[in-house]
Amino acid sequence: MFNITYVDQEEQLGLGHSIYVAADEIRDSDIMIALGDMIFKAGYSEFCRHYLTNGECAASIGVREVDDPKKYGIVEIEGNYIKKLEEKPTRPKSNLGIAGVYFIKETTVLLSILDEMIKKNIRTRGEYQLTDALQEMVKSGYRLKTFPVSSWYDCGHPESLLETNRVLLDEKENIDNVEVLKDSVIIQPVAIGENVTIINSVIGPHASIASDSYIESSIISDSVIGSRSHISKVNLQRSIVGDDASVHGKHNSLNIGDLSSIEF
Ligand code: G1P
Repeated sequence: MFNITYVDQEEQLGLGHSIYVAADEIRDSDIMIALGDMIFKAGYSEFCRHYLTNGECAASIGVREVDDPKKYGIVEIEGNYIKKLEEKPTRPKSNLGIAGVYFIKETTVLLSILDEMIKKNIRTRGEYQLTDALQEMVKSGYRLKTFPVSSWYDCGHPESLLETNRVLLDEKENIDNVEVLKDSVIIQPVAIGENVTIINSVIGPHASIASDSYIESSIISDSVIGSRSHISKVNLQRSIVGDDASVHGKHNSLNIGDLSSIEF
């Protein structure tokens, strides 16, 4: 049995700030931080095993090689320890990205650094960064290590969200129940939530459509569509549509001469 306590971060002031607002709950216990927009197939117990094998260190940071290091927190290593951490560097010195799972042993030190950062208003790109606080620990002489994170699916960027959607749909069983499916074709793999209406449309492959959406006269592939969205007369590929959104296209009427060529 777990006791779960939620702490609201009322302002979006960054990851470092979100840990800071939970300080009263955390106190001086060891903590694991896991970012909510990540999907890890390995499971947290595997990370915990890696952390324990890391032995004595102030913190352990999950990392993986990334293709675009400018989009992530980046770690440089020297010997067995972290030499430097930098949040979304303009000139990355390594491609070892922070994967969004962290184990902190020196919690009191981290919290007091965050407290200092907030008092002195030390922000990077407008936010109090956890990466900056960890870098401050390294600068103060604390020893931080990394551990490898495989099968990491990042849902925090549009491109990676679509890739995650594709990978997870490829693995899933096809058991969708569409509420109303009229004159339409479903090309698996797709994921369709409850109470979705699909009329005169082609859905898939790799389309995820959340509950209570209405889709009419459209073609949707390689896309993620939120709940209660209303979509008509569009051809959507590699698209992300949020909850309660509407996308309406127009049918075209053309009168094209001989030997013409038109691209929309
Ligand atoms: C956050 C962290 C970054 C990490 C990333 C993982 O960035 O600040 O260090 O590499 O998560 O996705 P965000 O994605 O919130 O911009």
